Amino acid sequence: MDSWDKLKNDCAGCRRCSLGDTRRHLVFGDGNTDAEIMFIGEGPGEQEDIQGVPFVGPAGQLFDKMMEMIDLDRTKFYIANIVKCRPPRNRDPLNVEQDACNEWIRRQIALVDPKIIVCLGRISAQAIIKEDFRITREHGEWFDIDGRHVMATYHPSALLRDISKRPEAFMDLRAIRKEIRSVCTRTY
Ligand code: URA
Repeated sequence: MDSWDKLKNDCAGCRRCSLGDTRRHLVFGDGNTDAEIMFIGEGPGEQEDIQGVPFVGPAGQLFDKMMEMIDLDRTKFYIANIVKCRPPRNRDPLNVEQDACNEWIRRQIALVDPKIIVCLGRISAQAIIKEDFRITREHGEWFDIDGRHVMATYHPSALLRDISKRPEAFMDLRAIRKEIRSVCTRTY
């Protein structure tokens, strides 16, 4: 039987790939481990690497504001990344790094056991939904993955870079709120 203590212990000090050589902190996850909804990002940026907490830099601040719009905060969801250590200069995590880190996110998903997963951005969607996921075409669509309701939306960093994507991201947020109301049993 897995447990959070066991998982955190196994993951602490991980050196399965070379991101372990350059990280300041391993960024494990944040929020409510007993939540019905889980958000999955790509990998830590500079602030996350410094603080050891996911989504606390500029993208994280936008993400928190987006959550507020649908009455969510970190007491109501769990959030983690595909890779737990910052890729140098915020480059995309390599496949070999994602593969090395895969066990941790799989075990986090299994322990949280969320009804809904929202992937933030292409890297997360390709790791969780399907390898050839196209974020511009397929964001906002619901997929059944192992009995969970899974959707991808734009990464908040993409929304900082390109404001024109924000109306579509807002539609995705509304769809997330609707799905929560229909499949989650707790009051949100
Ligand atoms: N971007 C991510 O994908 N994850 C973080 O934790 C921060 C920025």
